[in-house]
Amino acid sequence: MSSDIDELRRELDIVDVVSDYIHLERAGTNFKANCPFHPDRTPSFYVSPSRQIFKCFGCGVGGDAIKFVSLYENISYVEAAKQLARRYGIKLRIKEDSGEKGKIHELLEKVAEFYHSKLRENREALDYLRGRGIEGSTIRKFMLGFAPQSRELVELLKKEGGLEIYEKTGNITRVDEDRFRDLFRGRLVIPIRDQRGRFVGFGGRLLKGEGPKYINSPESEVFKKRELLFGLYEGLSYLRDLRSAVLVEGYFDVISLHQEGFRNAVATLGTSFGKEHAQVLSKFVERVYLLFDGDEAGRKAMRLATPHLLSAGVEVYPVFLPEGMDPHDFVIKEGKKALRSIIESSLDVFELLIERVKKGEKVEEAIRDFTYFASFMKDEIRSFTLISELSKLTKIPLEVLSSKVYRKREAVPEEEENRLSFTERIFLKGLFELRPEVDLDQLNLSHRARELAERILREEYYEVPEDILNLKTTDLEEEFGAALERLRIDIPKEELEAAGLRESVREIIRSHRGGIKPSALKRWRGGS
Ligand code: CTP
Ligand code: MN
Repeated sequence: MSSDIDELRRELDIVDVVSDYIHLERAGTNFKANCPFHPDRTPSFYVSPSRQIFKCFGCGVGGDAIKFVSLYENISYVEAAKQLARRYGIKLRIKEDSGEKGKIHELLEKVAEFYHSKLRENREALDYLRGRGIEGSTIRKFMLGFAPQSRELVELLKKEGGLEIYEKTGNITRVDEDRFRDLFRGRLVIPIRDQRGRFVGFGGRLLKGEGPKYINSPESEVFKKRELLFGLYEGLSYLRDLRSAVLVEGYFDVISLHQEGFRNAVATLGTSFGKEHAQVLSKFVERVYLLFDGDEAGRKAMRLATPHLLSAGVEVYPVFLPEGMDPHDFVIKEGKKALRSIIESSLDVFELLIERVKKGEKVEEAIRDFTYFASFMKDEIRSFTLISELSKLTKIPLEVLSSKVYRKREAVPEEEENRLSFTERIFLKGLFELRPEVDLDQLNLSHRARELAERILREEYYEVPEDILNLKTTDLEEEFGAALERLRIDIPKEELEAAGLRESVREIIRSHRGGIKPSALKRWRGGS
């Protein structure tokens, strides 16, 4: 394994590699730069082409090209080696993560290449892409493909000895003993890579006939829609350089925007934009342009994405497209200059609302939105400054506005986010151990508790802090029951007290509207 990495190291040029990330200046036979690993005002970071190493005389880090990438990308050395091998088209004979996950990535890559080769043979799919203005180089860059009838794919997977493993991705399903169906057959295929360039799944667009317009790989160990962003890998260096991303809704929006030079465009995979997506983006950018479809759904999606971005400390710039257009239509029809100009003239969400107030457009709504969004700001000083500005403009007393902001902030707490109440911890522990069916919507849970509860229900236990799972209890069932009562949204307290603990829990169950469904209580009944 190490000899392969040695070979890779000999093929790489450290100056090339590092220049991809930071600007290097010549200094005699060496190169220098401000160190990317510590706040550095005088360039103390040196790269030596003759020795193929880097060294920072400020903070002391140093090593070879692979080490640089591993530090910069915050990934392991082996991961960095693989990434570089991919980037420079060098074959690396590392034993892939011997684990199954590594094998799955490998198979997904083979399948993507297979689909890609099939696209060349498919006139119809090629015509479709041409009709939508997608060029050959773009097809190659995104490795777009076409999925033929399933037999050939199955043959390929058998040859690779990976049929059973690949089945676990849900991208193919067994129909009987020796027959499989490819989820994407007959569709145009868009391979999806994770941030590190590993193949994780596909999106498939219908070309003709019946069926949903898009199908995506099912959620799995390697395909986590809540974190993945399409276009992120392809555009990562642009996101980093520009410190901004353009968030769009669809695959074709990303593809055509990249083609027209907006290489920092990314999209979710048919899911709404959530907290995890925002956290991923916040690692690379300071600003996100929301370029959603010019329709009601697009505006709604914008409203939903904004709080997540603000909580992650990212500035939000909504960009509005003409009614009925999406970014793909717009750039194809109006051209990149027009798109560039609406993006560049867009305002930060708070400035936008201020403008609305000034113009007297739906003033109350704008003020409410303003305080609502401000309540998610990570930077409290900035949020206070914004609110003061709004107060001056509207003559609404600062206390009135800031009380609104303060209330909301509690609903989505930042620092306290990880602090769960004792009741919530007991509830989570019970949810984990007793496995009742619970309707979370009936419970008054903090943001964090809700998230953990959802994880437990999805059986993602590894995401649940151990101190919760190990919480000491004397009678978990009883304590869980009490916790449920306290968390229930709409039972009057007197009612609970009057009924006595266990009885009241039964009442909740009987009523069916409770936070817990009857089938869940088999264990409970036994307990009392
Ligand atoms: N989507 C999905 N499943 C669907 C429809 C849409 O997963 N049945 C996702 C896809 O990621 C799609 C995005 O939502 O790219 C946006 O949907 P829409 O605006 O309907 O699709 P467009 O990208 O405009 O589709 P196209 O341009 O291919 O017509
Ligand atoms: Mn669209």
